Amino acid sequence: MKYLKCFGLALLALALAIPATAGRRAIIPVETEHTALILAVRNNRVLETLHFGARIADPKAFEGFVTGLSEDNGSGPMAYPTTGGRYIGEPALHVKYPDGYHNTELVYDSHQVQVNGNIVTTKILLKDPVTRLQVGLIYDAYQKEDVICAHAEIRNVGAGPVQLLNYASGSLYLEADRYYLTHFHGGWADEMQMDGELLTHDTKVIESRRGTQVTQCNNPSFLVSLNADRLQENVGEVVAGALAWSGNFRLSFEMDESNRLNVLAGINSFASTYELDHGQIFATPEFIYTYSDRGAGQASRNLHAWARNYGVYGGGQVNPTLLNSWEGAYFNFTTETLLRMIDDAAGMGLEMFVLDDGWFAKDYPRNGDDAGLGDWEVNTAKLPEGIDYVASYAHGKGLKFGIWIEPEMVNPQSNLAHTHPEWVVQSPGRETYQSRNQWVLDLSNPAVQDFVFGIFDNTMKLSGNIDYIKWDCNRVVSNFGSTYLGSEQDRFFVEYTQGIYNVMRRLREKYPDTIVQCCSSGGGRVDYGALKYFNEIWTSDNTDAFTRAYIQYATNLIYPACVMASHVSAVPNHQTGNVTPLKFRFDMACSGRLGMELQPRNLTERERALADRCIRSYKEYRDLVFTGDVYRLASPYEGDYYALMYVSQDRRRAVVYTYCLKYQNRAVGAHPFRLDGLDPARRYRVTELNVDRSCWWGSGYEHAGDFLMNGGFNPVLLKTFDSAVFYLESD
Ligand code: GLA
Repeated sequence: MKYLKCFGLALLALALAIPATAGRRAIIPVETEHTALILAVRNNRVLETLHFGARIADPKAFEGFVTGLSEDNGSGPMAYPTTGGRYIGEPALHVKYPDGYHNTELVYDSHQVQVNGNIVTTKILLKDPVTRLQVGLIYDAYQKEDVICAHAEIRNVGAGPVQLLNYASGSLYLEADRYYLTHFHGGWADEMQMDGELLTHDTKVIESRRGTQVTQCNNPSFLVSLNADRLQENVGEVVAGALAWSGNFRLSFEMDESNRLNVLAGINSFASTYELDHGQIFATPEFIYTYSDRGAGQASRNLHAWARNYGVYGGGQVNPTLLNSWEGAYFNFTTETLLRMIDDAAGMGLEMFVLDDGWFAKDYPRNGDDAGLGDWEVNTAKLPEGIDYVASYAHGKGLKFGIWIEPEMVNPQSNLAHTHPEWVVQSPGRETYQSRNQWVLDLSNPAVQDFVFGIFDNTMKLSGNIDYIKWDCNRVVSNFGSTYLGSEQDRFFVEYTQGIYNVMRRLREKYPDTIVQCCSSGGGRVDYGALKYFNEIWTSDNTDAFTRAYIQYATNLIYPACVMASHVSAVPNHQTGNVTPLKFRFDMACSGRLGMELQPRNLTERERALADRCIRSYKEYRDLVFTGDVYRLASPYEGDYYALMYVSQDRRRAVVYTYCLKYQNRAVGAHPFRLDGLDPARRYRVTELNVDRSCWWGSGYEHAGDFLMNGGFNPVLLKTFDSAVFYLESD
């Protein structure tokens, strides 16, 4: 903090003097405990990025730094590249002015640094001298977590309206010989599949244009390994980042002819030219990034620590174990069915019952997915005693109670579709296509936002005993359009997402303590924009423990375990048909927020006993899942095993999960896993959980941390779906 100390603790505005010496720069370091983004004002007053990576003791050393780049070939690594001047790459900002011209050349005006405990905020004001457009670049540097959150505020102080054709949140220049990009793709019940490639010259784009359910194809997050041909867990330089936006997004990775990589992250400007009137400001969402020189593992731990402390609503708080009614009952239930499920959940030691889809709509009852969305009144033909009766019953049994809503949607078969056809996303003269028999409501319309707020609010009023809402969103946008926006259809996608945030902001003011799950046919809305308001995500509709290994491994590269809802379901699995042992299903679900999603009556007595045991032990160590640091020991993408562990912040306690995904032949003995994150000098008592006979010879004994971290830990896991969970504790 040497350089920053000169600013003192209060807010300080500095007018930076541009040094007269030709070639010398004024340095603006954005630093965390171990990393630095070095920004520099050149004597032409252009703001450039000179370094992002390890922290450098004296950032002023960059004052005389020469890039050696010839300007004949384009401009240097601008901190926020714009269309205009000598810049010929992908722009962060592209503006069309009222006179039809497209050029913007931002120069440094002033900056301020504000220290607020762990967060150091640097605000840099850039201006275009010709059009007077202003851009504020804001960097929040989270010192302990080594995370920077960057966003831009674009202000039109010129005479007429301007059109923002591109408006990214930030640009990050990286410099290496090779860049290996890891990103995440997938589909329904197959989210967050790891993908990767060695980048070549030109631009790689990861984006979504789906409007809603935006992350069911790609996720707005990435890891770039520097000077490596693959993502490595414990070694090498890795830059990981994510965009906090629940709408259309675009990440681009442009390797230019000088071999630099420019990473841009922002709202996807697809069909979304944004008009900014005189005096208006557009604030972009945050681009969150971190640097690690200890591989992907440290990058994840940085992001997770930031997420738990700042990025996730209620982050780090332990959320209850639960039984969800969906896969156990689907639409077929009566009050009696629910009460018996509550009895069973209470009997197994679970802590909440969640009533999923199917409880609402009278005229068009929700007995299948073809009717009722929009009509959020209790279906008293199905549940004559009402919701309060069921919720109070749950509370009487010592359980919390949660309920499902899908407030952004409407079935054509509903009263809402008849009373407010103008609220449906539509385009005049074109078919309003159905998907899962439903239409999307137009959240860009404030009246619809009020209605959606009301759905949540009125549902909460059904009973004083509602503790949890599962917020679903089950389709993408097609033939986009808004009757409310009239001729300004370009605003639709951006204002839809802002509309959700408006609603969630209001709901959080009124319901700060309600646990809210973000579901979108599973993991269709998994991003740090949503997580500002939601406590957890429904990681995937795929509840098959085997496939979950891949989904959860990849999700957890970016998002912390505390948000990952993971449920034990029946076999054969309803999505994949796989049959896995109950123990394997529990061991997988216990590495996130544990739940069950089946009809407990169908469990045998032996299975019930195992369930009780797994739930009991989980509740004893689960603070590690919610607040511990993750260490990944084996990747399902790379071998036959998946293994990970969570370690307490004081390194005295840990839980280790090991899973065998493929049969090992008879010659293969015990498999060594190198535990990680422990204190080498400490002795840990290691106990395998939920078994009478352990698969590791060392279970039940004390072992030194260095022994466990150097191959001493070698459980015997030979059959497909063998799994084991170990608890470690030291005095
Ligand atoms: C989506 C969700 C499921 C379930 C159903 C109900 O598919 O992802 O968990 O809530 O809707 O219709």
